[in-house]
Amino acid sequence: MAEKNPTVTVTRKLPDAVESRMAELFDTQLNRDDAPMNQAALIAAVQTTDVLVPTVTDTIDRTVIEAAGPQLKLIASFSTGVDHIDLDAAHARGIMVTNTPGVLTEDTADMTMALILAVPRRVIEGERMLREGKWTGWSPTWMLGRRICGKRLGIIGMGRIGRAVAKRAHGFGLSVHYHNRRQVHPDVEAELEATYWQSLDQMLAHMDIISVNCPYTPATYHLLSARRLKLLKPHAYIVNTSRGEIIDETVLAQMLGSGEIAGAGLDVFEHEPAVNPELLKLDNVVLMPHMGSATEEGRQEMGEKVIINIRTFADGHKPPDRVLVTEF
Ligand code: DGY
Repeated sequence: MAEKNPTVTVTRKLPDAVESRMAELFDTQLNRDDAPMNQAALIAAVQTTDVLVPTVTDTIDRTVIEAAGPQLKLIASFSTGVDHIDLDAAHARGIMVTNTPGVLTEDTADMTMALILAVPRRVIEGERMLREGKWTGWSPTWMLGRRICGKRLGIIGMGRIGRAVAKRAHGFGLSVHYHNRRQVHPDVEAELEATYWQSLDQMLAHMDIISVNCPYTPATYHLLSARRLKLLKPHAYIVNTSRGEIIDETVLAQMLGSGEIAGAGLDVFEHEPAVNPELLKLDNVVLMPHMGSATEEGRQEMGEKVIINIRTFADGHKPPDRVLVTEF
């Protein structure tokens, strides 16, 4: 871009410190009232801005990208996932895309672990009953869940977040198994004491808890399809902190309702912010509003990454977090 003060359009309200620094460094258009931009507003923005800073709630599809003016050179997403951006369309137009990897790994792994504990131990259900005045005292047979220690955890996607989940899982006595497009380096496998399953189907059939930690790409859309969900044991639990589109949510809700799957912890949904109404009726699910990365520290660090990516690009260097292709 080789210009020091690019125009930057930010689609959502970001942490105050991030916005202040962006306003100091760039000619920045902020979205102070945080109202999500519709497609027309996004198109208007890409026709004039040099850099667009979207979040996971913006659909930067082919229509938006093809409407961009020649000045748009960088989409610096305030996110790790980039499934909301048509990468092929961007690259075809010579528009670089960056993201914010690494800084939300630990927070997302913590949320994953929280769900791995909360669902089998019925944490939210118990809390709800107490608040509703349904607790009449300790009972030997009331509100029994399932033990975590000694169970088999199958992680789908052994990237940064999958590995951070594996480390935590050991502390709770879970044995760690994983499926990934490629087997990880033997040293990493040894460090994580993780067992590789080349066949996802085989892994699903043998696990007590499944954690979805792979990115959402065309290849992982409904990776947990009706056929695959039916491979799970009836006492199995599923946790998803990645993207809702990876699981066939309609089938999942049916199977949870009929007892074919024991429970689920979901931080993400197929049609966010809409949640399948069938899921809302169930006691054996814990539903979170996409909060995996929602820490003060994480959002601040995401903002810093966005700034570094824009700054290096504006200075004529390669930004550190260029997204080429997303693989699973
Ligand atoms: C991301 O950045 O991809 C996360 O899903 C936001 O929480």
